[in-house]
Amino acid sequence: MKIFVPPIKSQGIKSKLVEWISSNVEAVEFDRWVEPFMGTGAVAFNVRPLKALLCDSNPHLINFYKAIQRKEITSGVVKHFLSEEGKKLLDTEGAHYYVIRNRFNENGNPLDFLFLSRACFNGMMRFNKKGGFNVPFCKKPNRFAQSLITKITNQVSNISQIIAQGDYEFRHQDFQKTLSELKSSDLVYADPPYIGRHVDYFDSWSEEEEIILHSRLEKSKCKFILSTWLSNKYRTNDYVFSVWENCYIATKEHFYHLGGKETNRNAVYEALLSNIKLKDSISNTEMKYRIQNDKSQLTSKSINSNLPEQLLFKL
Ligand SMILES: C[S@@+](CC[C@H](N)C(=O)[O-])C[C@H]1O[C@@H](n2cnc3c(N)ncnc32)[C@H](O)[C@@H]1O
Repeated sequence: MKIFVPPIKSQGIKSKLVEWISSNVEAVEFDRWVEPFMGTGAVAFNVRPLKALLCDSNPHLINFYKAIQRKEITSGVVKHFLSEEGKKLLDTEGAHYYVIRNRFNENGNPLDFLFLSRACFNGMMRFNKKGGFNVPFCKKPNRFAQSLITKITNQVSNISQIIAQGDYEFRHQDFQKTLSELKSSDLVYADPPYIGRHVDYFDSWSEEEEIILHSRLEKSKCKFILSTWLSNKYRTNDYVFSVWENCYIATKEHFYHLGGKETNRNAVYEALLSNIKLKDSISNTEMKYRIQNDKSQLTSKSINSNLPEQLLFKL
């Protein structure tokens, strides 16, 4: 499967899991794909449903994709913008990053958002208490070399085509509003922030919200799939066996290589919880039995990745 990588980066991006998610939903019938937490859109843009409602509480993500949909942002516009601003970044030995960051925090221009997403430290997306983007510069004044600009313009071109070919609606709204608009023929893919992991203006999540999400999904009578984690070396996600105890569970082992060394591998079990049986899923009770009896938690083949160390602490 060819994976389409979105031009916007974020620590929560599911690019490494989209093939697995797609293979698990390909036999599921639905009229409309709904994501209350679309993030970068990596999942929808790879599942490529005919019709979709894609929402997020972060207005900058929605504005960016709406601008692509309206053809205000095209690969040509992006190429010109990043070449110009990239040159200023190089000429000022990186100081221009902070000019753009201040400008973005005043007027929220979607092209500045793209610039920041691709020139900030490690492609992080983080906002302060006032909603200002606060990730520092990646410290590479030559960040927008021709090869990266070509890569980003190709990503914009691919995503523009995917959006133009589908019947997609992008909306800036809270997940509760999205869940109040569901139809029973929708398939909901929910990828909320992990509880207690982030303290970010657009991206915090509480136990109360997790419980609301579960009860609204149950009430909607829709088919739903939730992305979460099951366990890592240190702990198990207890919400899987409390809030989501009635769900089927599919898991995939994801290895994070620390410092690039093969011996420093840390496994995380990523999970898909659903109210329908997916290709790889087993019952919640069966998974509980497996964990209690020290048996394999894996329901599908493993995947590998090299992620920077600071991302591991989010898991
Ligand atoms: C884990 S990320 C989603 C990642 C996405 N699947 C991807 O591949 O890029 C969670 C998203 O939920 C959004 N979010 C957080 N709280 C929300 C809320 N109350 N309502 C709607 N979206 C919310 C965040 O802005 C963030 O984009």
